[in-house]
Amino acid sequence: GAPRPRLTFLGTGYLGATYAICFAELGYEVVGFDVDEAKIAKLSAGSVPFHEPGLDELLRRNLASGRLRFTTDYAETAEHGDVHFICVGTPQRADGMGADLSYVEAAVSGLSQHITRKALIVGKSTVPVGTAEWIEQLVGKHADPELGIEVAWSPEFLQEGFAVEDVLRPNRIVVGVKTEWANGMLFAAHKGVFDLAATEDREVPMVVTDFATAELVKVAANAFLATKISFINAMSEVCEVAGADVTQLSKAIGYDPRIGNRFLQAGVGFGGGCLPKDIRAFQARAQELGAGEALRFLHEVDLINLRRRTKVLQVAADLLGRRFGPAGPDLSGTKIAVLGATFKPNSDDVRDAPALAVAALLRKAGADVHTYDPQGNENAARALPTVTYEDSMNAAVQDADLVCVLTEWAEFRNADPVALGEIAKGKKVIDGRNCLDNTAWVAAGWEYRGMGRP
Ligand code: UDX
Repeated sequence: GAPRPRLTFLGTGYLGATYAICFAELGYEVVGFDVDEAKIAKLSAGSVPFHEPGLDELLRRNLASGRLRFTTDYAETAEHGDVHFICVGTPQRADGMGADLSYVEAAVSGLSQHITRKALIVGKSTVPVGTAEWIEQLVGKHADPELGIEVAWSPEFLQEGFAVEDVLRPNRIVVGVKTEWANGMLFAAHKGVFDLAATEDREVPMVVTDFATAELVKVAANAFLATKISFINAMSEVCEVAGADVTQLSKAIGYDPRIGNRFLQAGVGFGGGCLPKDIRAFQARAQELGAGEALRFLHEVDLINLRRRTKVLQVAADLLGRRFGPAGPDLSGTKIAVLGATFKPNSDDVRDAPALAVAALLRKAGADVHTYDPQGNENAARALPTVTYEDSMNAAVQDADLVCVLTEWAEFRNADPVALGEIAKGKKVIDGRNCLDNTAWVAAGWEYRGMGRP
């Protein structure tokens, strides 16, 4: 067939590294670029600097095939690529609301200065709407106008833990373009994805649209997911006062295909590197554009989400017989086991993790907190050094007055309540993810409290 474009991915963090490795796997010649030499050295040596199932093996295989290499050199990156994907981070600004675009700016200007032929620069990072137009101006400032370099936008929808599948088998490709040429280049740059789907008798729809729509698709999708979670957590609050069970309510409404049962799990709420930051940045951008009112509900979504963390503190005080005063409860003299630190299972990511936030609240209230996470201890200890980290679930539960399960790792879901009951002091458990078999725990003599359950 037609020659495939050569690809580069700028920013080899979670997003860029995953894309670079998976597109090499799909048969493209790929260069991954980063300014961080340690990261590039690690990747070049065949080691993925973060935890993502399946990625290590793909990295090593594609380094060996010669289709994949990593560099810190803009000129080498510019020389390799027909299509350059910008995958650098867009952290929350210091003021807490908007997105910080300084890494995007550095990558685009660094790259454009070195490009010597017509090429396409494609934004992928999650950004405020309007960024693609701004990148076009940046390219105009730094690159030779004669080259006719073009810009496009193509958002990603990776979920941690499923990122390899999400790149190889996405449920859609979205591209924002201004010209037929850019559209054709992006089609060619994704041909490997379409071909793989065809061999598996699937189809991957491609939505071709303008810059602004493509940029908005990503934040709109994340805003919807966050809203769905906060909706069910709001129902939790109502269930708690009405004596109803949100897990059954969720199941019952989820059977309606218009609602759907996914992302309808009530618990301590959402965290991670995307949802919390994206809904805040989205509100800030809508405000700037004069549509602040339209997204005011996202502020509620955020508040409902954060309220779940305080709820755990309240239930803990209640179970331990401590009063909840205006300054919060006094939990001094109690030992609490916190099981889970990551924002979701099968990840080592503790960014904005509800589990860690609750551990911090319990500690602040004076409890002696012993935390265990199957993979997150190391990152957690850096983010929250004031609690004790244990090497096993048993060590954390030993002599505890209260056990809080805050991330639904299989190790906790499958834990034996009888065995744990023998080492704990209090036999009181808060199931912050509604992930335990409550009948079994109650049968083993535990006082059980779920989220939004009687
Ligand atoms: C999310 C989006 O799913 C993804 O499409 C986007 O590209 C990035 O953000 P991720 O951050 O990896 O992905 O996590 P996800 O699996 O979506 O979970 C987010 C948070 O929501 C977790 O803390 C999880 O525990 C919580 N959650 C999820 C619930 O509390 N209830 C649910 O029903 C589902």
